Amino acid sequence: MRMYDLIAKKKKGEELTTEEIRYMIGGFTDGSIPDYQMSAMTMAICFQGMSKRETVDLTLAMRDSGEVLDLSGIKGVKVDKHSTGGVGDKTSLALTPIVAALGVPVAKMSGRGLGHTGGTIDKLECFEGFTTGISDETFVRNVNEIGIAIAGQTANLAPADKKLYALRDVTATVDQMSLIASSIMSKKLASGSDAIVLDVKTGNGAFMKKFEDSVALAEEMVSIGTMAGKKTAAVITDMDQPLGYAVGNSLEVLEAIETLNGNGPEDFKEVVFALGSLMLQLGGKAQDDAEARSMMETVITDGSAKKKFAEFIEAQGGDASPIYDTSLLEIAKTEVPVVADCDGYVHRILAEEIGIACMSLGGGRETKESEIDLSVGIVLKKKKGDVVKTGDTLAVIYGNDSEKIARASELICHAYEIESTPAEKLPVIRKYIFSE
Ligand code: URA
Repeated sequence: MRMYDLIAKKKKGEELTTEEIRYMIGGFTDGSIPDYQMSAMTMAICFQGMSKRETVDLTLAMRDSGEVLDLSGIKGVKVDKHSTGGVGDKTSLALTPIVAALGVPVAKMSGRGLGHTGGTIDKLECFEGFTTGISDETFVRNVNEIGIAIAGQTANLAPADKKLYALRDVTATVDQMSLIASSIMSKKLASGSDAIVLDVKTGNGAFMKKFEDSVALAEEMVSIGTMAGKKTAAVITDMDQPLGYAVGNSLEVLEAIETLNGNGPEDFKEVVFALGSLMLQLGGKAQDDAEARSMMETVITDGSAKKKFAEFIEAQGGDASPIYDTSLLEIAKTEVPVVADCDGYVHRILAEEIGIACMSLGGGRETKESEIDLSVGIVLKKKKGDVVKTGDTLAVIYGNDSEKIARASELICHAYEIESTPAEKLPVIRKYIFSE
């Protein structure tokens, strides 16, 4: 078999066989197929696409390129949750303790933020001492004893995807549906859970800006998961404005804790409940959505979800005291309001610009090596559909550097689209996708 022939075949729009895909991924992982040939192949895929069968084969080949975690030592139906990435997306922080408090074991791999989107690991590191660098044994023990463990993605988990993603990133071949779906699902399948719930974002701050593209991506991922023998479901959620009010690590942790106290923003709570409901149903703990929602309300009201969050933070070396006294969270002391310069209604808040504003305050990474300031961020005061009068505060910046604050302020002003006509408030949950 020759990679040259496979590139030529795909260029003509023909389907690659299972053996050819396995040969390609094996050779690319061990270095015998060079980057330039693989780049030509990904570009051919961008133009010609891949069939469902090819996409599944690519996913499984990438899954098998490294270690596939064995979580059989964990009792119960392990449910993983994955978000395609957004701004103000602190969902895992509130969601995982809620479902764990209800008996669904959560064995989760999470990532760090890059670019305008945040990452769960950075947020968890707001708790002093917290680490995701735990051994496989501790991971399994914590899930069995507490119900939650969150680890970072190890180098040996789907290494073919790691290499391919880096290549796609510099060859303008990231935004192809089958490549995105196989990339995400190869890692999810390698992390060993029994069921997967996907939060696919749609809108300005998301990977997929168009609703139809987000639906197609979600359908593709649900069908891959199902074909690989995992119970899989997806929710399409709105990212045409940040989720909740807080953007920035410590501020988002604060908002997640408030949600566990029963005082969370409506849109954020709805995303947590929609995903939590699927996790409880796939995990066999609830019969239907109504039952799942009532169970989730109970563990918030009786404090057990919050207690679970503290147990989890402590089990991974963190100081959980900010969960009970949020004044202990380190939040930047300089507060600067961003005010409206016209009357009207908020039509859109460009989430990507808000994410970039947070990054420019020092709260996000431009490169993987960047150090971040966990204390900075933005709290929105107006959201889509709200009435605005000249001089009203649109958002408050929490920063540590006046130049960075000035830059963030400009970006936030630009992010708010205010018009004179009333704005329609779309629901945050746009669609559910289940396997056929
Ligand atoms: N996230 C991934 O892990 N892979 C992609 O291709 C896109 C987003």
